[in-house]
Amino acid sequence: MVVSNREPYQHSHAPDGRITWAPTTGGVAVALDALMRERGGVWIAHGSGDADRDVVDAGDCVAVPPDSPGYTLRRLWLSPEEATQYYEGFANEGLWPLCHEAHVRPIFRALDWDTYQTVNRRFAEVIESELPDRSAPVFIQDYHLALVAAKLRLREPGVKTALFWHIPWPSPDRLRICPWRRDLIAGLLGNDLIAFQIDRDRRNFLAAAREALGLEVTRNTVRMGNRIIAVKAVPIGVDYDRIQQIARDPAGETEMARLRQELGLDTPIVGVGVDRLDYTKGVLERLDALELLLERRPDLRDRMTFVQIGVPSRSTLPSYVDVVEAIDRKVADINARHGSGRGTIRYRKSALRIRRLVALYRLANFCVVSSLHDGMNLVAKEFVAAREDEGGVLVLSEMAGAAQQLHDALLINPYDVEGFASALEQAIDMPEDERRRRMHAMRRVVAGRNVFGWASDILEGLARLNPRSLPPVPGRAPGGFERKSVTRARMPREVKPS
Ligand code: G6P
Repeated sequence: MVVSNREPYQHSHAPDGRITWAPTTGGVAVALDALMRERGGVWIAHGSGDADRDVVDAGDCVAVPPDSPGYTLRRLWLSPEEATQYYEGFANEGLWPLCHEAHVRPIFRALDWDTYQTVNRRFAEVIESELPDRSAPVFIQDYHLALVAAKLRLREPGVKTALFWHIPWPSPDRLRICPWRRDLIAGLLGNDLIAFQIDRDRRNFLAAAREALGLEVTRNTVRMGNRIIAVKAVPIGVDYDRIQQIARDPAGETEMARLRQELGLDTPIVGVGVDRLDYTKGVLERLDALELLLERRPDLRDRMTFVQIGVPSRSTLPSYVDVVEAIDRKVADINARHGSGRGTIRYRKSALRIRRLVALYRLANFCVVSSLHDGMNLVAKEFVAAREDEGGVLVLSEMAGAAQQLHDALLINPYDVEGFASALEQAIDMPEDERRRRMHAMRRVVAGRNVFGWASDILEGLARLNPRSLPPVPGRAPGGFERKSVTRARMPREVKPS
């Protein structure tokens, strides 16, 4: 059983009255969907699409992916006040800026915290009602659901849960900003296993458990009462094989040609950036570096196009509105000052489906990930997975968790505009043998730690804590998942793909 705030598929009403569906974006949904399509099971999440209620059965379930069902999505409904206070408020105005050092002030309101606790309890109730048996592992995701395991354990003391914290965990000093940090840590310690992206996060969490709650910790455990909780760093990966398969599909050539035409790409050099429109992603810093590059190298004005895909996100929050407006202004300004008929910046504000995304990665000479702070950043790994031609250069912020693994990227500091611009120039001018060597090395890393290996590490880690809690899977390669196990998928009422 997987539990997250964001659902993997949303249904909505099209203007012509039809019901359409689309996969959602963001690291958690993409990574876990791959896992669930392989493994089957039940995924519990907030139903936030405007037609979500129209397609569920009497138990609030719908089979997904809607075009080839593989697992069950159990939707949980939130009132508008709950969504505002728990999701927008505590999770995204409080915890998100607390955990990401991007100079946005965390806002903590008592009402948001109350509602966060209520909603976490409601998730726990739904998990309890959906648990097929008490030994079924429950895999909880991210900062929206920090208290779920503790609330579930009150109702089902024998339950086995792991939580993956997808974003950075703050240092003890920064964590002190949160008035309810002790409850937050205690809530997380309701899990049997807590996993983080990188070692720094694991260390910060252990320090917080020791300093804020005075608990006894070792290198990878916390003792709370008579329970021992495992704490690990398990970096998340992407569905490497699927991305490779898409990249190898001959239909990709047509998709690339279509993209070139739609985006008006007729320069010899193409760069790409793909981000949720979030202030942590360093899009403004990237634009500053591109501008400086164009000033230094005017010859690039009609030889280079930079495609920026921005996926709207959390758009009701002022901190997001501000960054989106600033990006709009900056893009317009750069295009006005440096735009030629052929080159400069093409900015598209919408999500791309995976096939188009892979085509875009494949036609790019370089990809830029310039986060100011990021748990992992799966765009970096997706770009590498898509480059089975071993072409393309990854320019990667050293503030992203991915930089701990992808040492052969061109690592940049997004705050150092001169150094950043030089790295872009180096990416553009990189000799082919160096490009291949770097990409080859990064592909080995990304292939070696895919999303299934990540999930296996966590769920097998959970099983090892109590060997009877997970039945052995016959015929499975060590450390890997078998293909498709029991699925409780139920067929939806008629839904036409968009
Ligand atoms: C990050 C978070 C996820 C979240 C995603 C998209 O990757 O770690 O938990 O789902 O952003 O954000 P959203 O607010 O749209 O769910």
